[in-house]
Amino acid sequence: MKDKKAYAGELNQRFKKASPEEIIAFFLKEFDGKVAVSSSMSAEDQILIHMAVAIDPAVEVFTLDTGRLFPETYDLIQRTNEKYGIKIRVYFPDYHEVEEMVNTRGINLFYESEANRKLCCDVRKLRPLARALAPLDAWICGLRTEQSVTRILTQHVEWDEKNGLIKVNPLSEWLEKDVWKYIREHDIPYNPLHDKGFPSIGCQPCTRAVKPGEDLRAGRWWWETPEKKECGLHKK
Ligand code: ADX
Ligand code: SF4
Repeated sequence: MKDKKAYAGELNQRFKKASPEEIIAFFLKEFDGKVAVSSSMSAEDQILIHMAVAIDPAVEVFTLDTGRLFPETYDLIQRTNEKYGIKIRVYFPDYHEVEEMVNTRGINLFYESEANRKLCCDVRKLRPLARALAPLDAWICGLRTEQSVTRILTQHVEWDEKNGLIKVNPLSEWLEKDVWKYIREHDIPYNPLHDKGFPSIGCQPCTRAVKPGEDLRAGRWWWETPEKKECGLHKK
């Protein structure tokens, strides 16, 4: 594992000043068959898909369907598949685990305690993510440093210690305005909830609209404090 970690550090140095397209092109080629775009169908992820498909139309894209997504998100999966001629691979949680969890702790258990919220994210996101990542050597994500206090140190290329593979964040330095400029210029399909006050979209019960001037992720798990607002997908 040590050498892969060192390789990630090396690649981060090499791609520090590179454009997202250069980064994506390198990783799709270098890790061919062992790399995928991980998409929550966010505006950032839509840009990654747009860029990646232009480089390799057969690019692997996956999403984790927690079972609690917004209807608009499901529509966007379909629209994106149609527009780009791809088939986003959908990973589901284990139904035994979901049944056990909701039948013992409640259908909306996440509002009851932080422990319940974490368990739900674990069952519905982290365990399916582990399955999605198992065959891969690198995953490409839409994280940006601007998004939250927990993401300030995000690099273009990182060693993902928790999952044991390289994590690539080609848009890490982009600002919200860069994202929207690119989306509009390239006519990229996006979630209509973004136009209704939702800058960051996750599961429906754990996401709400933000007020003007509020943080980008203020509407995610809004009942928790900012430093806790991670589902664990990107915990170091
Ligand atoms: S989260 O941790 O709060 O849910 P966020 O929605 O900001 O993450 O997304 C950050 C990045 O994590 C996305 O750009 C995407 O690469 C990955 N990601 C988040 N949620 C999912 C998901 N449901 N399926 C696949 N990838 C995801
Ligand atoms: Fe469960 Fe909410 Fe986490 Fe979605 S975001 S997996 S509904 S706790």
